[in-house]
Amino acid sequence: MSDSPISTEKRGDILIVTSNNPPVNALGAGVRVGLDAALTQASADDGIKAVVLICAGQTFFAGADITEFGKPPVEPILTDLIPKIEAFDKPVIAAIHGTALGGGLETALGAHYRVAVPSAKLGVPEVKLGLLPGAGGTQRLPRVVGVKAALEMTAKGDPISATQAHKWGLVDELAEEGALLDTALALAEKVKAIRPIPRVSERTISPDDAAIEAFRKENARKFRGFDAPAANIACVEAATRLPFAEGIDFERTEFMKLMFGSQSAAQRHIFFAERKASKIDGIASDIALRPIAKVGVIGAGTMGGGITMNFLSAGIAVTIVEQAEEALNRGVGVIRKNYEASAAKGRLTTEQVEKAMGLLTPSLSLDDLSDCDLIIEAIFENMDVKKEVFGKLDAIAKPGAILASNTSYLNVDEIAASTSRPQDVLGMHFFSPANVMKLLEVVRGAKTADDVLATVMALAKKIKKVAVVAGVCHGFIGNRMLMPRQVEANKLLMEGATPEQIDRVHVEFGMPMGPFQMSDLAGVDIGWHRDPTRIESIRDALCAEDRWGQKKGAGFYDYDEKRNPTPSPRVAEIIEDFRSRSNMPKREISDQEIIERTLYTMVNEGAMILEEGMAQRASDVDVVWIYGYGWPVYRGGPMFWAGLEGTPKIVEGLKKHGFTISPLLAEKAEKNEGF
Ligand code: 3HC
Repeated sequence: MSDSPISTEKRGDILIVTSNNPPVNALGAGVRVGLDAALTQASADDGIKAVVLICAGQTFFAGADITEFGKPPVEPILTDLIPKIEAFDKPVIAAIHGTALGGGLETALGAHYRVAVPSAKLGVPEVKLGLLPGAGGTQRLPRVVGVKAALEMTAKGDPISATQAHKWGLVDELAEEGALLDTALALAEKVKAIRPIPRVSERTISPDDAAIEAFRKENARKFRGFDAPAANIACVEAATRLPFAEGIDFERTEFMKLMFGSQSAAQRHIFFAERKASKIDGIASDIALRPIAKVGVIGAGTMGGGITMNFLSAGIAVTIVEQAEEALNRGVGVIRKNYEASAAKGRLTTEQVEKAMGLLTPSLSLDDLSDCDLIIEAIFENMDVKKEVFGKLDAIAKPGAILASNTSYLNVDEIAASTSRPQDVLGMHFFSPANVMKLLEVVRGAKTADDVLATVMALAKKIKKVAVVAGVCHGFIGNRMLMPRQVEANKLLMEGATPEQIDRVHVEFGMPMGPFQMSDLAGVDIGWHRDPTRIESIRDALCAEDRWGQKKGAGFYDYDEKRNPTPSPRVAEIIEDFRSRSNMPKREISDQEIIERTLYTMVNEGAMILEEGMAQRASDVDVVWIYGYGWPVYRGGPMFWAGLEGTPKIVEGLKKHGFTISPLLAEKAEKNEGF
């Protein structure tokens, strides 16, 4: 068994079974074979009275091995192994540290006792992979924590702390940090002779229809479009109605439906895509990084303030610079207000708020940025202004400092050229609200040094962002793909579609909002020429009438005081007026045409981005759209979705409307494959 990730050691009459399968002790075939063999050993040896199951390294079993999904199963499978542990005739104690997730927690539920250190986390995150805990988790968990907690844990997938798990009886004993094995051994000693051995599957549970109905209702919006939450709920419900064995059969059927459905494939794709995104092609993963102890942010507006909070929350000092005292005070005030709002919701303690604010130095002078390791410019989106600021920074920043622009469209190479150190310059494109949105596009300029890029990608992880490397092109990855969608959406209005219809198609597709709802939220006036007499587009007409979106109570929609939208008769008139003036015949637009012209065009643009090397890989484009724009994760991002929809169908749809097809997309369609 020398190559096995499982090792055993007899300590008196207790067998310690240790798994060492880095990085996360996933329950791959090797682990399962080893565990099975250890049980056989413990069973055969009369000198063994109890078994302690523990993991080496960072964590207890973090789940089934996701890389095995979709491949032929290798025996022993988890759904056989866990009942074998549970049926074992000597007490088995699971000793948990790190994260006991998915199949890991299910294994622990198969054990007879659970011990954990307080820092451990326990959960069943399968729903986030479009699945359910399919190794008995949906049947055992409710029998231990009750219906309500089981619904929360399975259908939402967030882990709970060991302390919470202890309160709920999921953990029998808390061990002191560093004393996990000793505590587990002591418990084994205490329980080794106790009979009958407590088995979760033998516990009973009463139906609680009211709790299940209330949970479904409360979360209907959150679960919209997803298959897995409903399946998790149905399984918990089954646990309350069916005998254990029948509940397990029900769980299996539901699990298989999800496992072979497209949603889980999409969600698993995103799990790996997110992790792959942090890897930079052609740069060694052990490259020396530049230390970042202090960050400078220029601009205390919405963007600058949000960016600043990311670093403060991660314990990194920030100097924030504004031109006028009033704007500076306002910006700092908003940061404090945001933190205090989190504290009021119980997400932060007062000490944490003060600690974060204590790391902030407001300033009115760029000169105060001379000791910063990274300086991020978050000012007005204008090339001349940005060049001027970077020219000044060149004279102020210390040698080796990284200079970043938060531009969302502009040419980072041109900005870099206004300094004498283009190798230290790149783009860090945060998404609004920058303290909330997980996406960061890191824009690699032609001259950006490898260690600069690698440092910023690593820093992104520290501030809990999902970062994607983008090349220099107009709008980078995300906003560039937004453009054809916007252009087509506007043309469709002229041809006969309504904002409501286009938005509905997008929302039904799973987007949080459609293009016109988004425009109303962001501000219809963004990028408007500000001349009310110059009316060349529907947008100009709206802006000229002060219909700037939600902030004015009117945009493409009318809004009440609570910002509830209703279709606007005035907007319908404006569109009608434009249409007749341009002699455009009105026609019926099908929902399918909206998909072809606003979503297929995005895929086409994404393919061009890949051709030009502006994204490293198709899955990075998907990550951008999932984390930056709310693309439904169960559709896996635009490039993954292209494969689901069928690239030949997409090409055919695009051709119908006369679009130029990206050669890469054409090639994929030719081979009938996805990206
Ligand atoms: N299977 C295979 N590989 C896994 C894995 C898993 N369950 N979990 C993590 N990994 C891999 C990651 O892909 C990554 O690989 P890489 O280094 O090649 O990119 C590596 O392990 C490290 O992972 P992270 O970068 O995510 O490490 P962190 O320390 O940030 O996080 C973690 C650790 C919290 C355990 C996180 O990896 C995680 O959430 N993992 C998934 C947990 C999960 O979903 N478990 C349920 C699986 S499904 C299941 O159990 C089905 C069952 O019910 C039948």
